[in-house]
Amino acid sequence: MSGNFIGKPIPKNEEAQKGTVAWRSPSNIALVKYWGKHGRQLPRNPSLSFSLSNAHTDTQVSYTTRQDATETASLNFLFEGKKNIAFESRIQKFLDSIIANFPFLKNVDLEIKSQNSFPHSSGIASSASSMSALALCLTDIEYELAGKERDDSFFHKASYISRLGSGSASRSVYKDFCVWGTTSLDNKYADEYAVPLDKVHPIFEGLHDDILIVSSVEKSVSSSAGHQLMEDHPFAEVRYAEAGRKLIALAKHIAKGEVEAFGKIVEEEALSLHALMMCSDPSYVLMEPASLQIINQIRKFRKETGTPIFFTLDAGPNVHVIYPDNAQKKARMFVESKLLDHCEDGRHIFDIMGEGPQKIT
Ligand code: DP6
Repeated sequence: MSGNFIGKPIPKNEEAQKGTVAWRSPSNIALVKYWGKHGRQLPRNPSLSFSLSNAHTDTQVSYTTRQDATETASLNFLFEGKKNIAFESRIQKFLDSIIANFPFLKNVDLEIKSQNSFPHSSGIASSASSMSALALCLTDIEYELAGKERDDSFFHKASYISRLGSGSASRSVYKDFCVWGTTSLDNKYADEYAVPLDKVHPIFEGLHDDILIVSSVEKSVSSSAGHQLMEDHPFAEVRYAEAGRKLIALAKHIAKGEVEAFGKIVEEEALSLHALMMCSDPSYVLMEPASLQIINQIRKFRKETGTPIFFTLDAGPNVHVIYPDNAQKKARMFVESKLLDHCEDGRHIFDIMGEGPQKIT
């Protein structure tokens, strides 16, 4: 494999090979946000996230090789057991865009089946888990066809390919915390793929993310459009510098077990992301009144009880309630008694830092 992650084509005159691979890949929650991109899905600033456990996608890819090459990938796609034209055409476009990275795609017929652990209409972004599950399957097929063992470079390639599908997906191929994007924290971090964060204080092991579904209505402005709006944003340069600075500070707090300082940055980041949206041109607001009520209640409860409980937000109205495992009893009781009332039909997912992707087949 070269530095550009270009695989080898299928050798000529080989007998047809058949196989099936399947991966379960998690969603992840960013604590320092990726917001703004350029070139071929390269981030404008580094981001730091942790992988979840309960919110995940299972993807199975069956392949049959053939000698005749096609210019576009040959695909049959089922989502939750049914044909889904919108998803299939997104996957077709994605596969065609990575044929140079996976030349075997010209010589295989693929059958892809995918399903999420959470309802599609829950307002939880599925692109990180679904794109990383697909990228892991494709990288696995490449390794299987080449008779190669899965090593660290396997996950680098899977992260690289995930990134081309959706930027945040690059961070879903590892367990625990990871970083995507160059930063002076360490020169092992790269814009092309994510890398695990290795110095983690035990207090952050098993970090919780109670996802409160405030609204499952499709967002008025997609993440792709939001990234685009950063291109002429008046605060873009300040934002990228600030995100870089916050990532370095957050990584240090994670290494040293500084929970309060960690939470302060996590909340600042969530509100900065939404502030950027509010002063984009055109301006837009994705938070709902219930998002603000939850945020205010979390701050009040923290102040009154000293419980280390914080919030973050994705590009949507849902609130992610973050707390260390040693605060679970108090935090969960508070979430259940005070916050679930603000959710749409009480909907929520109690999630926790996860073990990363698992090979199912
Ligand atoms: C706010 O990864 O969904 O969740 O690369 O266009 O697919 P594309 O965008 P996407 O953006 C995620 C933005 C975010 C922050 C984050 O996850 O870092």
